[in-house]
Amino acid sequence: MGRKKIALIGAGNIGGTLALLAAQKELGDVVLFDVVEGVPQGKALDLSQVGPVQGFDAKITGTNDYADIAGADVIIVTAGVARKPGMSRDDLLGINLKVMKAVGEGIKANAPDAFVICITNPLDAMVWALREFSGLPHNKVVGMAGVLDSARFSHFIADEFAVSVKDVNTFVLGGHGDTMVPVVRYSTINGIPVPDLVKMGLSTQDKIDAIVKRTRGGGGEIVALLGTGSAFYAPAASGIAMAEAYLGDQKRVLPCAAYVDGQYGVDGLYVGVPVQIGAGGVEKVVEIALDDADKAGLQVSVDAVKELLEACKALDSSLA
Ligand code: APR
Repeated sequence: MGRKKIALIGAGNIGGTLALLAAQKELGDVVLFDVVEGVPQGKALDLSQVGPVQGFDAKITGTNDYADIAGADVIIVTAGVARKPGMSRDDLLGINLKVMKAVGEGIKANAPDAFVICITNPLDAMVWALREFSGLPHNKVVGMAGVLDSARFSHFIADEFAVSVKDVNTFVLGGHGDTMVPVVRYSTINGIPVPDLVKMGLSTQDKIDAIVKRTRGGGGEIVALLGTGSAFYAPAASGIAMAEAYLGDQKRVLPCAAYVDGQYGVDGLYVGVPVQIGAGGVEKVVEIALDDADKAGLQVSVDAVKELLEACKALDSSLA
């Protein structure tokens, strides 16, 4: 059996980090694609030279030709522009929609059997558009958001309670924007729900509310600090976790921007929900019971995603 092939569309900050992580974990050979000439080739060469130091076997190549992604098992898309301070993810819509069109067509023509993970923002709209442009089945195209948002939530919870992140399990529903819904009730430290920990006097509701707010603005906080560009280490790690779930048929239950048609009362759009990822791609949307506040929060998020889809359709009539 040959090695798996992982194609990374976009060789910027996230793309380069994805390549490093994929190679270190020996998930397969890596192809870095970018429209800028020299960058994917240069990064591939640099990353290849990590191999002898760390002792991993992975061939890493850079290209500007979509033909080189042929036969990819997994494709992770980060092509496009990132936020600058003061911008929301939604401000990227016009530019990144055009990028998704080019990428979707490239995937359709060269690697239609791949499992595709989209990271480009505004995520929920871009993953939808990428699916439309590529024509791949809905279960083979998924967006990375919830794993990252939950990681941010978990990091803050671990800090607040001064416990290992290994024991923290949180999850976040909805769109990857200010309307995301960190679900406190289903967030636990080794099975103990956060509201119970508050009742035990280990934190206060005010502190948890502040953590929820900080999680929602987690990406923006990093954009403001960096001054140029947006977060890339944790987004890349999150994308790799999803790729591993697919390649290893792990059946992991992860919050992802998945195509939801019927579940949660949502009709035919991409939004963050828990899904099971295995060799079949998105094998199942897991429908959990939500209380009224979370349901209302999810609806606000769904409405925000719908608005973005309308904006996409207005910009590109082939999507209407
Ligand atoms: N095809 C392929 N690559 C492209 C295209 C295109 N049509 N247009 C732009 N790119 C490349 C750029 O040349 C750049 O190398 O995409 C890369 C983006 O890299 P960065 O600017 O470093 O952005 P990054 O931090 O990696 O984020 C990428 O993910 O999280 C989101 O909001 C973020 O939308 C942004 C994306």
